[in-house]
Amino acid sequence: MIDPTALEPVSGHPFGTALNEHQFHRHVEDLLSLPELMSSRHRTHHFDLSEYDHLVSVARTAHRLSRYVKADARVCARAGLLHDLGAHWFNTLAPCTLALRLQESPGVCHAIKAHTLLPELPRTREAWVIIAADLLTSAQECRFVLRRTRDRAGYRLREDIARRRKLLHRFAGGRVAGVTRFGRNTRRRLIGLPITRAIRRVAGA
Ligand SMILES: [Fe+2]
Ligand SMILES: [Fe+2]
Repeated sequence: MIDPTALEPVSGHPFGTALNEHQFHRHVEDLLSLPELMSSRHRTHHFDLSEYDHLVSVARTAHRLSRYVKADARVCARAGLLHDLGAHWFNTLAPCTLALRLQESPGVCHAIKAHTLLPELPRTREAWVIIAADLLTSAQECRFVLRRTRDRAGYRLREDIARRRKLLHRFAGGRVAGVTRFGRNTRRRLIGLPITRAIRRVAGA
């Protein structure tokens, strides 16, 4: 599981105010041990992120947003945690059935049902909060995955540079001791070359 704060809006965002952790936990305490929620850790939702991560992030964001629009924080947090449980895309049947079985309030059931704008439109503040939190979280998930992809590419490049340095040292002997002393542009040019040509260039062949 990823750190839930990794999917939260960056600081400086209008909704970047810290979550009231204590109150949030009090509002969703009983749901956190739900077997259905536990099993959502093993299902992917957006990209390769788990359904559990999405639900927790939406619930946390919804809880924070509720303060700005004077919506019921408890309803927002609970609806956020259940809104996609066992479902994907525009299917709200499974989470609605679960919410009814758990005897959630009509406000929670409506927010879950209306979060896809189909089959019914949102009629309450809490339902709008879930829609906004779902959109914000999905955008944050895109950002998270893009950043992770970029970081991995950067890591591969660094690994490649280290490997090339090692090979240059091995094949070109003493002359390559200067590799680390080369200017940044020279290093860049060497890195961009196929390894055999780089060796020839450094060895002066
Ligand atoms: Fe959904
Ligand atoms: Fe969602």
